[in-house]
Amino acid sequence: MADRRSLQAFHPFAKLNSLLDGIAPGCPSSTEAGSEPILLSIGEPKNQPPAFVAEEITATAATWSRYPPPRGTEAYRSACVDWLNRRFALPEGLIGEDRSIQPLPGSREGLFFALLAAAQGYAGAPESKGPPAVLIPNPFYHVYAGAALAAGAEPVFVPATAENGFLPDFAALDTTTLDRAVFCFLCSPSNPQGAAADVEALGRLIELARRHDFIVAFDECYAEIYDRDAPAGALQAAALTNSGEAALDRVLVFHSLSKRSSAPGLRCGFAAGSARLIDGLDMALRVGGAGVPLPILAAGTRLWREESHVEANRAYYRENFAIAERLLGNRFGFRKPDGGFFLWLDVGDGEAAAVKLWREAGVRVVPGAYVSETDASGDNPGRPYIRVALVYDAKTTEDGLKRIVDVLARDGSKAPPAAAVGAGR
Ligand SMILES: Cc1ncc(COP(=O)(O)O)c(C=O)c1O
Repeated sequence: MADRRSLQAFHPFAKLNSLLDGIAPGCPSSTEAGSEPILLSIGEPKNQPPAFVAEEITATAATWSRYPPPRGTEAYRSACVDWLNRRFALPEGLIGEDRSIQPLPGSREGLFFALLAAAQGYAGAPESKGPPAVLIPNPFYHVYAGAALAAGAEPVFVPATAENGFLPDFAALDTTTLDRAVFCFLCSPSNPQGAAADVEALGRLIELARRHDFIVAFDECYAEIYDRDAPAGALQAAALTNSGEAALDRVLVFHSLSKRSSAPGLRCGFAAGSARLIDGLDMALRVGGAGVPLPILAAGTRLWREESHVEANRAYYRENFAIAERLLGNRFGFRKPDGGFFLWLDVGDGEAAAVKLWREAGVRVVPGAYVSETDASGDNPGRPYIRVALVYDAKTTEDGLKRIVDVLARDGSKAPPAAAVGAGR
């Protein structure tokens, strides 16, 4: 159980900055491997969205004078529905553009506000079942834990390790904890490990949520970044459990153009799912959210309807993963992820490796422990790992990975413990 009470406490980059503060990046002088620092820490796409984004924003510029409509535009919502139906082969009519879609300024705000909206349901409820719990995979995207704290709930971290295919087994929790659960996050494909749950596993989680009366937020913002096989989505699984609105009971999914269209600066995404939950999310966003401006909705409408740029993005990341496979082989537990653009490398001590890589190679990576929580027995499932974002062009990616291999393979396959390289914080 987490005893940290500040939102900041979960932010990986605050911790990484303080770890590396005052350490000069030691870039190699050889021109072959480049000589500038390479920041493989941040999962921000570096390629560009299609040119029509700028055209669409210019064409609709007169609407900057208007406040964003809370439920977006019909054109945007219908582009989202059509994309969901195509991408996940959903039964026609399952997702209604008026009742089942909430436009979002990126998925992050929606994930956060969905839990705040759910908190309205349990605020003031008698605590006969104990304090409300939010189930979170461990490692996790820091926003899940921050939202749990903001909503006054207890984050309960569930390991997602190599032993369970890097996916959390929520069903293995004891009944008391499951009965206390009010909300659950599942990231698939996951950040950082890139593991995707299959449709059966997604369906089992939905059934578990219904039995124990909690909501599941399926974070699918990496669903479009994959090699050959498109990862399954929770709405596919939901459609197999029932028909009509009953199929969406307890289900919210989150999608985004940030990774799909390499447009994180656009701030454009959506939530889809149960009409009741979408209404709750809408209400919470009307109180504290920013909305999606009309020119952005116009650009987003075109992006959800266009696939060739997404194909090009997949080819871009495919090339980077081929480079990683060639350079890493079977070292550091290398595996190609089911989705997303991160490597999750077992280097023995992720924090020590991050310091060593910055000091000796000018490569910035995130220690796995900074995106994971330490459990009551002192175990942190991310501790042996580093997270490496393969977001740069092939040349930079190759330079960065060569530096990583050079430094980490120099003294054997694993980095020494943090103390040995002076990583004290
Ligand atoms: C797991 C995960 N979920 C959600 C987000 C939020 O992305 P956005 O708000 O840009 O859609 C990110 C961003 O990096 C992420 O890694």
